[in-house]
Amino acid sequence: MRSLIDIVDFSVEELDELLKTACDIIENPAKYAESCKGKKLATLFFEPSTRTRLSFEAAMMELGGNVLGFSEASSSSASKGESVADTAKMISCYADIIAMRHPKEGAPYVAAKSAWIPVINAGDGGHCHPTQTLADLLTIYRELGRLENLTVGFCGDLKYGRTVHSLLAALARYKNIKVVLISPEELKLPKYVKYDVLDKAGMEYVETTSLEESMPQLDVLYMTRIQRERFDSFDEYERLKDSYILTAEKMQLGKDTMRVLHPLPRVNEISVAVDNDPRAAYFRQALNGKYMRMALILKLLKEAEEGRQMEQIQNTVTNEFYCDNPRCISSVEQELPHVFKCVNPEMGIYRCIYCEAKKTRK
Ligand code: CP
Repeated sequence: MRSLIDIVDFSVEELDELLKTACDIIENPAKYAESCKGKKLATLFFEPSTRTRLSFEAAMMELGGNVLGFSEASSSSASKGESVADTAKMISCYADIIAMRHPKEGAPYVAAKSAWIPVINAGDGGHCHPTQTLADLLTIYRELGRLENLTVGFCGDLKYGRTVHSLLAALARYKNIKVVLISPEELKLPKYVKYDVLDKAGMEYVETTSLEESMPQLDVLYMTRIQRERFDSFDEYERLKDSYILTAEKMQLGKDTMRVLHPLPRVNEISVAVDNDPRAAYFRQALNGKYMRMALILKLLKEAEEGRQMEQIQNTVTNEFYCDNPRCISSVEQELPHVFKCVNPEMGIYRCIYCEAKKTRK
């Protein structure tokens, strides 16, 4: 069944089609009010969420459908040891589509391989968050009128920020996007994202520690939270948590047309005083998330009716390498094969199909 696990599962034409549908939903909500009558969305949230879960639920309700699910692992049979694969099979008996958030990287992919209904990745550990990216794209499009010819600054936790990795992968498909990567040394964008996404797409980028120096050139400033839950060391988190705070004074350095995005929740990286600035687009961005999730539910349910299947991952090896990433779903899911995909045959580089951990064939 066709699912959305990673933003690159969709072509740029499909992203544009979703944007178009979302804009039509905004213009003509009544037209869609019964589009999902009789359909059920299951929201399986093994990790906390406000925006993603509730906007998915609101999206399905505004399409005339129903919602069931849970908002914490402890209220599901996962707490008794039920696997993600079995959970997905069970939910396939009760619902028409699944939105899943899970702390283990690759869990929604495992669910999609086992379910016989579409699965949407609503965030898997520090890995991907494709529906946040859909919200980000609609926000940039609605605020600036284009998804090309932009200078986009990413600020904060670029190491663990899954929304940053997903948005970069999406923007790599659009023309003339320049990227400014603003982070402390310890939270720089991982090398594999630089090589696999930015370099492969030929995107121009610079790395800096200075938000102030970057501000004047930006069309979009994408602020991120320092992700406490992803740190192994609390002391390291404490040391880095106040690295960047966007204040009303710093906003004066930005263009009048610049927009500030943030996937939210924020902690203290954007001062509340910035909320009154018309360039602060982060609450509008959260609303856009609902419209894009409506468009996505419609697309995946339509493709399910047409019998469209998920594309098979090619060039894989099974149980030749062992994934030792403790955040990978393969570290906890019993009997899950360790499958790696060859991404660079010349250099013998393989990546775990669940979490993208790297192995090199000697
Ligand atoms: N942006 C986002 O994923 O927010 P939640 O964690 O509240 O869903």
